Amino acid sequence: MSRLATLLILGLVAGTAYAADERISFPADYKTSFTNYLSLDRVQNEDQIIRLFANPVALEAAAAGKELPNGSVLVGEIYAAKKDKDGKVMKSALGQRIRDKLAAIAVMQKEEGWGSTIPENLRNGDWDFAIFSPDGKRLNKDLNTCRQCHAPLASTQHLFSLEHLSK
Ligand code: HEC
Repeated sequence: MSRLATLLILGLVAGTAYAADERISFPADYKTSFTNYLSLDRVQNEDQIIRLFANPVALEAAAAGKELPNGSVLVGEIYAAKKDKDGKVMKSALGQRIRDKLAAIAVMQKEEGWGSTIPENLRNGDWDFAIFSPDGKRLNKDLNTCRQCHAPLASTQHLFSLEHLSK
């Protein structure tokens, strides 16, 4: 076998090892084609704010009271909350945190058969997870932490915000 062919095969093997963690691409058009359905002070992170977006496929199914189908994509823009000079998280007159810089973009996407490659205790149906920097570069995070925290929510399709999708 030629040296080039060997290198190509090694490249393919290395590629498949990480395929599951890179199968979600950055949804570059989410600002124009998704809907911002909820914004809130993050429940489990005291110095962050999240703005949630859903694509039309997800919104239409939720509005019709149907299970979200393959092709559904949800985006969470994660912002740092503004802090005062002592490093304390500031609150507005409404008692809400105030957005500072965009820190990361979390994504959930559902596609045919995606769950089958994930161990049962980390499986979220056919949903999977990804996280990107504000300019759309993949961040090197252990996605099993995402899978583990969302997995128990089987009764709401592994989503924390399901009820807010179908307003
Ligand atoms: C410790 C628990 C926990 C972990 C870990 C976690 N999430 Fe979540 N996730 C939440 C909660 C709670 C919400 C509701 C909004 C909020 O407070 O941030 C949420 C909401 C979301 C949403 C909006 C859809 C929904 O479920 O309402 C997306 C998308 C999301 N998370 C992606 C991710 C990604 C990607 C990771 C890993 C990088 C991750 N999450 C890790 C708890 C978690």
